[in-house]
Amino acid sequence: MNSISRLAAVISLASLFPLSVQAADSKGTVEVVHWWTSGGEKAAVDVLKAQVEKDGFTWKDGAVAGGGGSTAMTVLKSRAVSGNPPGAAQIKGPDIQEWASTGLLNTDVLKQVSKDEKWDILLDKKVSDTVKYKGDYVAVPVNIHRVNWLWINPEVFKKAGITKNPTTLEEFYAAGDKLKAAGFIPLAHGGQPWQDSTVFEAVVLSVMGADGYKKALVDLDEKTLTGPQMVKSLTELKKVATYMDADGKGQDWNLEAAKVINGKAGMQIMGDWAKSEWTAANKVAGKDYECVAFPGTDKAFTYNIDSLAMFKQTKDADTTAAAQQDLAKVTLSENFQKVFSINKGSIPVRIDMLNKMDSYGFDSCAQTAAKDFLADAKTGGLQPSMAHNMATSLAVQGAFFDVVTNYINDPKADPEKTAKQLWASVKAAK
Ligand code: GAL
Repeated sequence: MNSISRLAAVISLASLFPLSVQAADSKGTVEVVHWWTSGGEKAAVDVLKAQVEKDGFTWKDGAVAGGGGSTAMTVLKSRAVSGNPPGAAQIKGPDIQEWASTGLLNTDVLKQVSKDEKWDILLDKKVSDTVKYKGDYVAVPVNIHRVNWLWINPEVFKKAGITKNPTTLEEFYAAGDKLKAAGFIPLAHGGQPWQDSTVFEAVVLSVMGADGYKKALVDLDEKTLTGPQMVKSLTELKKVATYMDADGKGQDWNLEAAKVINGKAGMQIMGDWAKSEWTAANKVAGKDYECVAFPGTDKAFTYNIDSLAMFKQTKDADTTAAAQQDLAKVTLSENFQKVFSINKGSIPVRIDMLNKMDSYGFDSCAQTAAKDFLADAKTGGLQPSMAHNMATSLAVQGAFFDVVTNYINDPKADPEKTAKQLWASVKAAK
């Protein structure tokens, strides 16, 4: 999208924001900007809305469609600039610190609730550091997503004569060839930049391992970004792209997930929010669908933690501090953590819950995710997702997105030149 059409989208979306309908007996309103708009995501966010309303507060929905959240972030910026930020917004990773450093986040509003609810004990330090600014909580973490998953329709695999889930890139290509030959879309994929980079980072993780991934996509090390392993990653990415849905250009991730669910496609590379679509379609993990680590990445876990950051409010704003505090309290409550993640496809962010997942009725995918999260945290296999705002600033992420999407779409693109270009763009954005 060019800058003018992006601005037009912002203006038209901003004007669509719902008016607040606060009942006379409401204890206060909280407006929440988020991008959970697919069927499964909406089912999950409705759990939060219902709980806030049960507590007597009014939920003002600031949903902005667009997977990965870049449109939501544009809307958020324009609202902040015009002095009208929402009460809470879905912001992640290093971006939380950037927002906090502008002075727009509220460093006081979560003080008491985080103490009363013992957040420092409930959360891993890595997580609490992400949502604190200079020692104060400015956001509440909601859940943990794993990004490096491959979703499989076993019925389609069977029809195509595939007898084993792929665990290496070679097996992945072999499965892709069989799916193609049997008339299926091998890989459901929407060609939006964040989806392209979701696949790119999975391939980097597969080729380079967690250490190489960290050097390239987290530390932004020049040697690694331009070296032979990156050239190999880009070469493999081009091969993976030959299996992507030919009709997937610009397509939303959930519409592509539907192709796997409906038996038109065999696989999708996507974070476990994809599971929310399977759940919404009443499909059962391990029976109707399989979740496996993207080939070659079973000892690693690229994480993506959703968080709701609290904005300072003007006197005449709808959102009140009491409503922000209730939202935060509900978010880390045990029952919400369970029900939300079951709907969303994620796992709880509370350490105590991750250690006893089976007692909450989580399915096999979530149990594997929790087990791997805890194990990979000890080995260095746990790494922040670049494509989902956890590893770099949004500017650096944007540089990756541009180069990766151009590379996938340019039939003449050269992996060696692209690796150099990656570094040049990242360096300029740093
Ligand atoms: C991610 C976000 C998830 C999910 C996904 C697709 O960035 O963390 O919660 O919404 O985008 O929209």
